[in-house]
Formats: sequence, C-alpha cells, structure tokens
Amino acid sequence: MALINWDDSLSVKVGSIDNQHKKLITMINDFYDGIVKGSSTESLVKLVAAMKNYTVEHFSHEEGVMQKVGYPDFPAHKKQHEMFVAKVAEVEEKTKSGKLVVSVELTNFLKDWLKNHINIVDKKYSEYFIKNGIK
Ligand code: FEO
Repeated sequence: MALINWDDSLSVKVGSIDNQHKKLITMINDFYDGIVKGSSTESLVKLVAAMKNYTVEHFSHEEGVMQKVGYPDFPAHKKQHEMFVAKVAEVEEKTKSGKLVVSVELTNFLKDWLKNHINIVDKKYSEYFIKNGIK
C-alpha cells in the first residue's frame, strides 16, 4: 500500500513541478515498500540514494525558477529545502548502518514533511510562477 498518494489537492498548478513532485512521492513510496517488504540493505540504500539525488535535482530546479523570476520568498524557501536534504541524508546514513526501524519512522517524517511542504510552502509560489509564465 502506498504511503502517500498524489492527487489534485497537491497540485501547485505548474505542470513541470507537479510532475517532479509525483516522482518524489513515488520514490518515497518505493522506499517505504522496500522497508515493509524487508528488502536487503543494499537495495534500500540504492532506493534512498536515488531519492536523495532526485530531491536535490528537484530543489535545484525549483530554486533556479525562483531566482529566474525573482521570487521574493526564495531565501526562506531554500532554507526549508536544505533542512529536508539533511533529513534525507540522515535516512541514507541509517539505512547504510542497518537501523531500519528508525528508517520507518523517518520515512513517515519524510512523507509528512513533503506533503506539508508542497501544501504550505510550494503553493505560495504558484500564482507568482504562473504570472511569470512558468509552466
Ligand atoms: Fe517542491 Fe519546495 O519543493
């Protein structure tokens, strides 16, 4: 069962970014499934590494757009991103060291964080991005 499902309530109304959020959600679900199914540490490490890399890629894209359009809330938003990347790195570390029980808790944290971030922080740029022609 998926840990988190994407639906229209999570849309920031910018298609390219919605697609990236969908991919991130899929990756969190895959990682969670791996833990629940008791996948090997090697396989979980691969999943979490891919999730971390994609998270960095997505944040970098979003931040690039913010800078391009002069989004006023850029510094505070970037700080949120940095905190999340640190958390994903923590999950990666705990996965590598085999502390999977803790990783389940952290996976729930990641899910809640991402959902709240999209709903509260990302949605704030929606209108600004659209007004500046970002699709
Ligand atoms: Fe979509 Fe600010 O992360």
